[in-house]
Amino acid sequence: MQPISLIQFLIEARRAGHINAELSLLIEVVARACKRIAVATSKGALGGVLGMAGSDGTQSINVQGEAQKKLDVISNEILLEANAWGGHLAACASEEMEDPQQIPDRYPKGNHLLMFDPLDGSSNIDVNISVGTIFSVLHCPDGVTEPKAEHFLQPGTEQLAAGYVVYGPATVLVLTFGHGTHEFTLDREVGSFVLTRRNVRIPEQTAEFAINMSNQRHWQAPMQRYIGELLAGKSGPRGKDFNMRWVASMVADVHRIVTRGGVFYYPLDAEIEKQGGKLRLMYEANPMAFIVEQAGGAASTGRQRIMELQPTGLHQRVPVFLGSKDEVEVATNCHLQADGTH
Ligand code: AHG
Repeated sequence: MQPISLIQFLIEARRAGHINAELSLLIEVVARACKRIAVATSKGALGGVLGMAGSDGTQSINVQGEAQKKLDVISNEILLEANAWGGHLAACASEEMEDPQQIPDRYPKGNHLLMFDPLDGSSNIDVNISVGTIFSVLHCPDGVTEPKAEHFLQPGTEQLAAGYVVYGPATVLVLTFGHGTHEFTLDREVGSFVLTRRNVRIPEQTAEFAINMSNQRHWQAPMQRYIGELLAGKSGPRGKDFNMRWVASMVADVHRIVTRGGVFYYPLDAEIEKQGGKLRLMYEANPMAFIVEQAGGAASTGRQRIMELQPTGLHQRVPVFLGSKDEVEVATNCHLQADGTH
């Protein structure tokens, strides 16, 4: 069988009425920008792109108060520049910028809002471990010509498309627009993304979990108890042994789950309680929840479905539980029972 390129797949999706021409162009442009980010990341030390941003010896800090790596800044610029002039966007918002970026007046505007985390897992860049880009697309409310933060504050159920690109041994794009989750692998010689798995399915049950165990002492009681039961293995209440993995790049951890099942947890803990969680609702939790749900998995905050949350801020953080459906349900029920709401 002839390989199907991303472009052919998008044409097929347009014919089926799953996406319109503008959304198709938007996805194409984001994918093209991600190819450039893949080239930049793969140069490593040879590209002069490792290390921290800030040319004059001062440290560059992003809106989250986090130190920026050079590649964070470069990836952000690649995505902004690629999306400015195509006429498919009303505005975009990035994890790296305080406020939404408007489309310059000299360029045509479209009806979509794009959100992205340009380079997730950036602490892994300098040590040559997989990193990724995460993105999500919303409809710009009718009649809004200069979208502000409030226009982006739509629940995840309103997402028109979401995807991530993992820059690993292979560069892989995983995409949904609400008609299943599909995987494309970058053919580096040809320079195009090729469909490698259509309608990916995450097994409902699993024996593999991902969590940063170093935070254990700060977790809430239900999380302590739940993970304790997984660690107890065969002789514990779950009656089976569980394996553990933690890459510390959400994109890589989620991609493992999308490939062979598993669950990923970044729960609330005493250290991050005030900020609401570690991961960002608009740039990480919502897009990943959409992708995982479309692959038959589940995504919750431990108490509520992530995609039903009404966002209150562009950079809002939330707890994230996602992956194999039955296991996410066990972890969520554990919290709801402790709260007395189940
Ligand atoms: P960042 O992009 O700022 O490096 O954050 C990475 C995120 C996410 O990708 C990952 O799952 C998590 O933070 C890692 O958290 P720990 O540092 O606690 O391991």
